[in-house]
Amino acid sequence: MSALPGSAEGTAVTGLDSSPVQPPAADLPPLTEQTRLEAREIIARYPQPRSALLPMLHLVQSYQGYVTPQGVALCAEELGLTKAEVGAVATFYTMYKRRPTGRHLVSVCTNTLCSVLGGQRIFDALSTDLGLHHDETAADGSITLEHAECLAACDYAPVVTVDYEFYDQQDVESARALVAALRRGEKPHPTRGAPLTDFRGVSRQLAGFDQYGGDGARAAAVDAEGAIDPTLAGLRLAAERGEAAPPMPHPGQPPADTGEPRETVAPSGRTGETPEEEAADARVAAADNPAERAGAAQAHPDKGAEYGQPRGRQRAGTENPPAAEPATGTTPPTPNPPRADGKA
Ligand code: FES
Repeated sequence: MSALPGSAEGTAVTGLDSSPVQPPAADLPPLTEQTRLEAREIIARYPQPRSALLPMLHLVQSYQGYVTPQGVALCAEELGLTKAEVGAVATFYTMYKRRPTGRHLVSVCTNTLCSVLGGQRIFDALSTDLGLHHDETAADGSITLEHAECLAACDYAPVVTVDYEFYDQQDVESARALVAALRRGEKPHPTRGAPLTDFRGVSRQLAGFDQYGGDGARAAAVDAEGAIDPTLAGLRLAAERGEAAPPMPHPGQPPADTGEPRETVAPSGRTGETPEEEAADARVAAADNPAERAGAAQAHPDKGAEYGQPRGRQRAGTENPPAAEPATGTTPPTPNPPRADGKA
């Protein structure tokens, strides 16, 4: 890790990489007693204080626009952690910014599907227009531009988010118009979800503080109608074709009879079990891999006795060898195999 200009606190912000941290601007709003009280309010939500670190980082970011050395120090003091520990977390997640952020954070998905459908062209156009590279902020402080990995909205590709709100199915011209509106101080409504605030406002929401002034206003804003057509396209197509997914078996019930031969689902062959136990045994036996098998075993009616603790016998279809039977007085111990060199 390279030495940084400025204080030791600056080093803490960078964590394990060598990215430079800009010295705090002279007009950076200070963290106040109010910030500390809100941090303690967050801590009180969790059984373990350190669990509050992520929302606390959003909180300090909401005051100062990025996670400053002062923000790291506040989190460390309130949680009894070292600044290095806080810095290691703050530098791991891309939502915590290490440099002053613009009023709006514009993220362009350039991951596979969005890129194929024009995401990279959008990023390149905005980058050229604004004169910014990834993670840089316009001189007027209006926009920070970044490219993003998959934003979990591939059905709306290519997507752009502003302060994490979605603007779906963008192209170069619509993205240019969106950014121009943001720079004029407008807040175009996202395609779906809550209305746009700004980067500090959404950071405050992510810290768990309401921006809407009451439950009714919040519900009205967040539950606003959005376009979900692309998400439903597969469902609609399946309905047109009369296709349906096979029903999920309920724990404790035998798998539904689909009419297909189930040569991989065989009864255990043991007697004296209830039909539910037989069915659960069959599901364990039919599991294709250890993870499926563990899941099926968890749903077994007598998992505590049969699957949770070894009982010394092999279950059909499992890979675990039976536990060794204890030696008895009539059973001679198994001799050691002979050594290749003939010595005892
Ligand atoms: S690839 Fe862009 S949202 Fe998934």
